[in-house]
Amino acid sequence: MTFRIAPSILSADFAKLGEEVANVIASGADWIHFDVMDNHYVPNLTIGPLVCEAIRPHTTAPIDVHLMVKPVDRIVPDFAKAGANVITFHPEASEHVDRTLALIRDHGCQAGLVFNPATPLTWMDHVMDKLDVVLLMSVNPGYGGQSFIPGTLDKLREARAKIDAYAERSGRKILLEIDGGVKVGNIAEIARAGADTFVAGSAVFGAGKDSDPQRYNSVIGELRGALAGV
Ligand code: DX5
Ligand code: ZN
Repeated sequence: MTFRIAPSILSADFAKLGEEVANVIASGADWIHFDVMDNHYVPNLTIGPLVCEAIRPHTTAPIDVHLMVKPVDRIVPDFAKAGANVITFHPEASEHVDRTLALIRDHGCQAGLVFNPATPLTWMDHVMDKLDVVLLMSVNPGYGGQSFIPGTLDKLREARAKIDAYAERSGRKILLEIDGGVKVGNIAEIARAGADTFVAGSAVFGAGKDSDPQRYNSVIGELRGALAGV
């Protein structure tokens, strides 16, 4: 099993985002998780395609755009042009889930659905062929720094079973990503429940002292160390 660590820049220092992005990747992270909130679908307002375009030259790592916006379709081409590699959205926020997945793929990006804590996994059943990523929220979307909802572990096991059964019959691999409250202390248990891609915002960007240039290295090393035991 290959594990991916995707620091969420929601908890980074926005005054020096390019540097933050380059630093976490140099410290061993795999993806940059990019949280887009619209103060409508979720009660917070963050960053859009302009910022995605601005950080793009600072890394060659995949940019994983998590859209917490409604409507979804209008903004998809903008993120593709801004250099996004993966685009995920919440099925409740799109009128036509199959069409939105196709739109993302037509724009050359990998596509994924995001499941809120109360959203049933059945949303994926009829669109498996268009999914590259399934993202389970382990907090309610809108803010960094919340606690992992324990019931997500059972949901992860359920999602893992669906994805594995699909891989068996289709030969296609879908990634299983987890987002919210992931820390050094719980990442192993989350991996054992079936996740292969881990978003971590406050755990990475809140680690250590600002003055310590090695702090991202240390925390990403600890996350990987915990995963090595799985
Ligand atoms: C929450 C966002 C998350 C958030 C995670 O709505 O989707 O990506 O940044 O932050 P932590 O890891 O601090 O829970
Ligand atoms: Zn996110």
